[in-house]
Amino acid sequence: MEYIRVRGNGPLHGTVTISGAKNAALPILAASLLADGEVVLDQVPRLSDIEIMVEVLKALHAEVEYLDDETLRIDASKVDVTETPGDLMNRMRASFVVMGPLLSRLGEAHTSMPGGCNIGERPVDLHLKGFQALGAEIDEEPGAVSAKAPQGGLKGGRVYMDFPSVGATQNIMMAATLADGETIIENAAKEPEIVDLANFLNKMGARVRGAGTSNIYIEGVKKLHGAKHTIIPDRIEALTFLIAAAMTGGEVRVENVLSDHIRPILAKLGEVGASLEETDDDAIIVRSNGRLKATKIRTLPYPGFPTDAQAQFMALMTIAQGQSHVEETVFENRFMHVKELSRMGALIVTDGNQASIRGVDRLKGAKVNATDLRAGAALVLAGLVAEGETQVFNVFHLDRGYDRFEEKLRGLGADVERFSE
Ligand code: EPZ
Repeated sequence: MEYIRVRGNGPLHGTVTISGAKNAALPILAASLLADGEVVLDQVPRLSDIEIMVEVLKALHAEVEYLDDETLRIDASKVDVTETPGDLMNRMRASFVVMGPLLSRLGEAHTSMPGGCNIGERPVDLHLKGFQALGAEIDEEPGAVSAKAPQGGLKGGRVYMDFPSVGATQNIMMAATLADGETIIENAAKEPEIVDLANFLNKMGARVRGAGTSNIYIEGVKKLHGAKHTIIPDRIEALTFLIAAAMTGGEVRVENVLSDHIRPILAKLGEVGASLEETDDDAIIVRSNGRLKATKIRTLPYPGFPTDAQAQFMALMTIAQGQSHVEETVFENRFMHVKELSRMGALIVTDGNQASIRGVDRLKGAKVNATDLRAGAALVLAGLVAEGETQVFNVFHLDRGYDRFEEKLRGLGADVERFSE
């Protein structure tokens, strides 16, 4: 069994370069199914989730190849399969966003219902509501779902998102690009990954307006052609390193980060006592003496505090002086890291979606289990400041969303190494 060994090794120092955004690359890879030409994507992160999406595209008879370590070439001209392989969907629920492109381009899409995962039940009702607003007929069986466009193809429609779901906004936006007429998505998600997807779609000849606001307008077109695109930097990877540096005390330059994508984190790191300098070449320098003050966070859809930063920030709060507070409003079960942090001596009490954290002087190294992607990152960060050795198991969670995580941390002076037992 693989585990990551972390030893508290004092302040982090140096420079780390952020990779492309997983949560932009995944929908953009799915969107390449809409084009009957060649797509070239640059700054694609090397992650297991990306490998799964590549397998999905190949299973649908798209050509996919790496031109270099982080550049992918996709040609979906010959895509003729409308069924997403169930085993791949079960391995990565985010592959559900291939439904919109398949439905729009080929008139139908069939896939297994994505399982929930441990952070929540993860329904897809808003995705299906959007497809129906475009005229699709939905057929749900236990564990499977099919969507079929009407004769003549999808028609533009209007859909209100009961919750600004990221995946549903992406799926509907993609389905609407080849529909006949205009589609309006109200109360849409506003994440930077939505904007990056819209920019890519428009490069392929789509007509998407308003991405990044609550109302997105898509004017359907007949066809989409190939395009080249560079994926935006991963804001969640960036904030993970900023939090790590604030916790250990020290000075770290995080390169390839767009500050506007992580305003809440920058504000909260300032509140707890770190100092942040935004450079004019897409870098942020974080400086900290490691003695941090308590604060409170409430996760919200963008532009609020991101739920994907909640676990990592809670790790910081375990050693911040005073009583901190966390409210998780996006997912119903995203506190699995609490039990693991407590094994390291953290003082955390939860009540439903609220957690109270009393800072301690020092955590103690322990054997802990990553329960999901961001919880795994939080445990590694906790190990950086703990006394003695921490072993984080189930590291496959980390490999889903962090490209060369240990290598990048070692580059900043951390004592972090992967072992197989
Ligand atoms: C995306 O998931 C991200 N994943 C998640 O990142 C991220 O946590 C999440 O957005 C929120 O920002 C990818 O982009 C691949 P949602 P997604 O649909 O699209 C409810 C990570 O760590 N909902 O915005 O699945 C749902 O239950 C991952 O990188 C419905 O009720 O998130 C949840 O409570 C974890 N019905 C809330 O919306 C629906 O049809 C947010 O889900 C869809 C969602």
